[in-house]
Amino acid sequence: MGEKNTKSLKIIITGANGQLGRCLQDVAERYPDYEFKFKSSKELDITSKEQINSLFAHEKFDYCINCAAYTAVDKAETDQENAFLVNAEAVKYLSEACKTENTTLIHISTDFVFDGSKTTPYTEEDVPNPINVYGASKLKGEQYVQNILEHYFIIRTSWVYSEYGHNFVKTMLRLGAEKEELSVVNDQIGAPTYAGDLAEVIMKVISSKATNYGLYHYSNEGAISWYDFAKAIFEIKGMNIEVNPIPSEAYPTPAKRPINSELFKHKIEKIFPKNIKFWMDSLHKCI
Ligand SMILES: NC(=O)c1ccc[n+]([C@@H]2O[C@H](COP(=O)([O-])OP(=O)(O)OC[C@H]3O[C@@H](n4cnc5c(N)ncnc54)[C@H](OP(=O)(O)O)[C@@H]3O)[C@@H](O)[C@H]2O)c1
Repeated sequence: MGEKNTKSLKIIITGANGQLGRCLQDVAERYPDYEFKFKSSKELDITSKEQINSLFAHEKFDYCINCAAYTAVDKAETDQENAFLVNAEAVKYLSEACKTENTTLIHISTDFVFDGSKTTPYTEEDVPNPINVYGASKLKGEQYVQNILEHYFIIRTSWVYSEYGHNFVKTMLRLGAEKEELSVVNDQIGAPTYAGDLAEVIMKVISSKATNYGLYHYSNEGAISWYDFAKAIFEIKGMNIEVNPIPSEAYPTPAKRPINSELFKHKIEKIFPKNIKFWMDSLHKCI
């Protein structure tokens, strides 16, 4: 006779080796009552409908946290097909499997669904208008989730960093070790998000068994520029690097970025109060 499974919830995590996936692996240790199935891109390719359907048919999941994404924002401009395949079509396959198997989907999206022309923080009611391929593909993914599912949480976040993978903090630390002076854009405003904080909030959503399904904005608290962020990174590390502020035009990239990326977070704060940490505190923690 097989051992009886005493775990109260079963959760599948896609894209488990990315920044958020790795942070969820760390946070999962604090939830011994739950059974976590972490699937890397090699173990589960979400662009394969067959792989998704066969997995969901064999195992019953209470929640699916979709951390898999095509996140190479600049590359997406010339690789539109793959960006849409991962960020939109694959999200449709996941949503359909979740619908059939009665699994709640927690899907992560981005501030890049907005064009950045608003002068105040973006609310969940603001109309998206992406200005790059990545943003357009993520918006299409959101729309699939909303059209297919009732039991879902879409969490839009911004400027994600962590001790894992590729991100701005790690890039600055690498460049700071090579150079004494750096130029960083100071006219794009937003809030960094430590992936460890986002992972904790996701687990709060699950453990509270919240049924306030829908779309939410989440980032760390505060509004800064990339220039401010870079200066803080070097300050915390005690690195003496001269950081020069420059406008976006002086640092052209294949994908346009929104000037204003700030997300209004009152909706998530109402349901999960005191969970939004100040960006500088989280940066200290990560570094
Ligand atoms: N990073 C940011 O600044 C940022 C900002 C706003 C929102 N977001 C959103 O936040 C979420 C998490 O982002 P992150 O920073 O953790 O991303 P990440 O570090 O780039 O991780 C993404 C993961 O997805 C995996 N993946 C790619 N294609 C896949 C496929 N076909 N099947 C399964 N897995 C696949 C990748 O695996 P491989 O490495 O093997 O390809 C990688 O492990 C994403 O939805 C992203 O759009 C991120």
